[in-house]
Amino acid sequence: MADPVDGTTAAPPTTPTAAVPKATPPAAAKPAAKSKADSAEPPDKMRRRVIWGMIYGYLGINLLMFLRFFFPRALYEPNTVFNIGYPADFSLGIDQRYLMTNRVWIIREPDRIFVIFARCTHLGCTPEWKSSENKFKCPCHGSGYDSEGVNFEGPAPRPMDRAHVAMDATGKLIVDTSRLYMDDPRAGVNQFNDPGAYLPV
Ligand code: FES
Repeated sequence: MADPVDGTTAAPPTTPTAAVPKATPPAAAKPAAKSKADSAEPPDKMRRRVIWGMIYGYLGINLLMFLRFFFPRALYEPNTVFNIGYPADFSLGIDQRYLMTNRVWIIREPDRIFVIFARCTHLGCTPEWKSSENKFKCPCHGSGYDSEGVNFEGPAPRPMDRAHVAMDATGKLIVDTSRLYMDDPRAGVNQFNDPGAYLPV
């Protein structure tokens, strides 16, 4: 619009405009929290650990094998010759006190003592004495032996062997399981009455 005084044209009034917020510089991006993937070990490091683990395992096994040489796999067998005491220490019947240690039964009869080696003549298992049935019974395949160790049932082909028994100078009984006496009807051999297969008492 023209000013009537000085003929100038006044600038039209300006309407206040909404204050434009000052652009603020973007805040420095915060470092993102370390993701799990970032914190995981790098694959190279992991691989190196696995390889070292395998190497240490291998060396450890070799060390154990080396130390094993100092402990030979020896089987400690009981002495085959042993003292079982005096005849009077045995009452009539089957005595099992040397079964676990020496694998024998001591049989005391009214006029003799003999020693049965507790090995089944079928395949070598250790039979059990069944006092209620008055017989030895093999748990492996069922062979049965009477109270003198003579087979009567099952696959056992012959009686159980008897161990050498003798009396020493002091009157004690000495058993030797490295000297066995057998009765094998198939071979026509019977050593049960040989000297040493029993001891008269
Ligand atoms: S080993 Fe005794 S019956 Fe077979």
